[in-house]
Amino acid sequence: MLVAIADLLSRPQVAALRAALEASPWVDGTVTAGAQSAKAKHNLQIPEDAPVAREGGDMILRALGAAPLFVSAAQPLRVFPPLFNRYDVGMKFDAHVDNALRHVPGAGFRIRTDLSATLFLTDPDDYDGGELVVEDTYGSHNVKLPAGHLVLYPSSSLHRVTPVTRGSRWASFFWVQSMVRDDGERALLYQFDQAIQAVRADLGDGHAAVLGLTASYHNLLRRWAVL
Ligand code: NI
Repeated sequence: MLVAIADLLSRPQVAALRAALEASPWVDGTVTAGAQSAKAKHNLQIPEDAPVAREGGDMILRALGAAPLFVSAAQPLRVFPPLFNRYDVGMKFDAHVDNALRHVPGAGFRIRTDLSATLFLTDPDDYDGGELVVEDTYGSHNVKLPAGHLVLYPSSSLHRVTPVTRGSRWASFFWVQSMVRDDGERALLYQFDQAIQAVRADLGDGHAAVLGLTASYHNLLRRWAVL
């Protein structure tokens, strides 16, 4: 399941973040790549320990915590500190799967990457190419969203970024370890929650059907969540 979350960051937040990134040094993106993906990866990144990465990352983490759609779709247990990359003309990331486990810098533990996230920081009109292409059981999806929008997809998916042919594509990327490890179970909970929200809007919170569905949702989550 691929979920897009509109306006995770506001336009002023995107502008402030971009200004901070512009003033920061960029390094070769292979620093955070695994052995296979290092050969496929051709882009630039902000170093993980750069102050702008920590401050920008904290802003993104706060926005995620306040986004009900993210919480519902990801059921997050841990979120990797967001990283930042850019693809200038000619840069790309060929097909790869993200590493299953990642050390969280300075935290002394690893996370399992259940979900991968890309937060777009450049508007689609400002560059050509640079599409995120995600393969799943229903075929391949091309994703190119407005600045401030986020896409979430299973980390088990093969994915790539097509070559940029004009402009520069800036983004933040990170991973989520979910309380619900199985993609199918997580998708079912998300769709169930979306349906409950629609029924609540029509019938009101006190309706017996809403109570029953909400109870079933929580009992499924209780069954599947691992903390
Ligand atoms: Ni990747």
